[in-house]
Amino acid sequence: MARRGHHLTEVALLASASGSLAAAGAGEREGWLDDPAVLLSLGPRARDLAVASAARSVLGIVPVAGGGGVTVKPALGPDDGRISAVEWVPLDAEGSQGEEGMTVVVGTDAGWLLFYSLAGDLLHKQSIYPAKILKLNFNERKENAWEDSGSDELSVVFPGVIARCDGADLQIMLQKSFQEVKSRMWKDKFEQEDDEDTSSFEKTPLQIWNVSKFGSCVDAAIVGLMPPPLLELQSSQRHYCAITVGEDAVVSAYRLSEDRSRSLVGAILSRGVAATFSTISSLSKILWRSEPSPTKKPRPKPQAFAKTSPLTCLKDSPRKGERLTLSPSGTLAAITDSLGRILLLDTRALVAVRLWKI
Ligand SMILES: *[C@@H]1O[C@H](CO)[C@@H](O)[C@H](O)[C@H]1NC(C)=O
Repeated sequence: MARRGHHLTEVALLASASGSLAAAGAGEREGWLDDPAVLLSLGPRARDLAVASAARSVLGIVPVAGGGGVTVKPALGPDDGRISAVEWVPLDAEGSQGEEGMTVVVGTDAGWLLFYSLAGDLLHKQSIYPAKILKLNFNERKENAWEDSGSDELSVVFPGVIARCDGADLQIMLQKSFQEVKSRMWKDKFEQEDDEDTSSFEKTPLQIWNVSKFGSCVDAAIVGLMPPPLLELQSSQRHYCAITVGEDAVVSAYRLSEDRSRSLVGAILSRGVAATFSTISSLSKILWRSEPSPTKKPRPKPQAFAKTSPLTCLKDSPRKGERLTLSPSGTLAAITDSLGRILLLDTRALVAVRLWKI
C-alpha cells in the first residue's frame, strides 16, 4: 500500500511541475512518457529530474519536490545534431556541494556533449566522435580497500565505439567554468551578451575505443578495471573491461587499454588548440530564449582509437541484445534481448549466472 501511495505522489508531482515539463511535451497526450524522443534522467537522491525532448530540442530540469524548473534550448547548430542522451554529472567527487554541485550533460546524435548547470548555463561543449550518442553513464566508483576499483568516469556509448572521460578531469574543468559563469553573472549580463560572451572551451582529455570487432553495438558499458593481458609488462597503464550488446553478438566483452601518451600529452596539446572549440555560450536562464547559434568553426577531428582486445562473445542468432544495465558495483550486468529474455552476467568472470524468460 505504502509503495503504491508513494508512486502516485510522484506522478502527481510530475504533473504539477508543469512549466519545464510541458516544454518537453509532458502530458500533451496519453503515453507521452513512452515516446522514444523524450529522454529522462533522475538525479542523485531523486531530487531533480532532467527531461529532454529530441523533437523540440529542449532540456528541462525539474526539482522533484516542486518549485520552479529551468528550461534550456541548447545551442545546437545544423551540424551539432539532435539531443539523444541525458545524464547527471556531479561537480565534485563526493557530491558534497549538494544541489549546487550538479550538472546535466546532454549528448547529441552527431556526437557532441553539452554540460549545463542546474541554472541552465552552458558550462562546456565538446565534440567526442561523429556518430549518435546512444548512452551516457556517469559512474561513481566507491573506494574499496581490497582492490583498485578505478576512478569516477563518464562513459559515452556510440554504435561500435565507446569513449571514457575521467571523472576527476571532468569535474576540475566543470568547476572552473562554473566559477567563470558565476563571475560573469556579477557583471551586467545584458551588456555582456552581444559582445564578449564568447568563451572558448578547453578540451577535456578522453580515451576512445573501437568495440565493433563482433559487430556494432546498440548498448554498452565500461564495467571496471581489469588485469593486463598475459605476458604483458606490468605498467601504470590501466585496462578496463567493456561489455557491449547488439544484433550480431548478443553480448561481447573487450579489454580497453588506456593510451597513456594521449591522456597526458593530449591534455597539454589541447590547451594550445582551445580556440577551435570556441562557441558562443550565454545565460540561457530565461525561458524560451534560444542561445545564439555557435560560430562556424571546423569541427575538430575525432581522436584516434586506443587499443582494444576482444575477449569473448556470445552469438545466438536470431537473438539480439537490446539493453544493458549494470549493478551499482559493476560486477553484474542485466541484459535484455529481442526474445524477451533477461540474462544476468557476472562481469568479472564473464559468465552467465541466470537467465529469465518473461
Ligand atoms: C572498427 O573496427 C572494425 C573491425 O574490428 C572495423 O571494421 C571498423 O572499420 C572500425 N571502425 C572504425 C571507425 O575505424
